[in-house]
Amino acid sequence: MTALFTISGIVVKGNQLGRKLGFPTANLDLPDASRFHHLTGVYAATVELEGVNFPGMAAIGFRPTLNQPSFTVEINIFDFSRDIYGEDITIRFLERIRDEIRFSSLEELVKQMKQDEVECRKILSVLFNPDTNTQ
Ligand SMILES: Cc1cc2nc3c(=O)[nH]c(=O)nc-3n(C[C@H](O)[C@H](O)[C@H](O)COP(=O)(O)O)c2cc1C
Repeated sequence: MTALFTISGIVVKGNQLGRKLGFPTANLDLPDASRFHHLTGVYAATVELEGVNFPGMAAIGFRPTLNQPSFTVEINIFDFSRDIYGEDITIRFLERIRDEIRFSSLEELVKQMKQDEVECRKILSVLFNPDTNTQ
């Protein structure tokens, strides 16, 4: 599966809301982040960490649902609980699944993220499920 594009950077602490919502994310420290504004959206993605790839779902955008919106590039890594602050990661954006939405509550955002997870796991299963991997 060829990546649409790739972004690398150091993981920094977000505002830690993701953890409370049940979807912790690794946020990238990106000097000059405005060059990524046109890529805003939600994606099935992989993240490479110390040479190993993990599946996840990534978001690029302004996070209009939050009280204090700010532009970020972030990824929720599936089945992953390690603390990776300060580590250098590479996110490969494989398929764009939707636009960023301004939800009227965090509950609605979480509901949508649950659906995003199902969709992204399906998209990525060919890469990570040995039964369907023909290589
Ligand atoms: C897969 C995914 C989809 C997201 N979609 C939206 C969205 O549509 N609208 C929005 O305002 N924020 C969206 N977000 C951003 C969340 O608001 C953000 O991850 C959350 O507030 C936690 O931020 P924090 O890591 O800075 O604590 C999305 C995040 C992810 C990982």
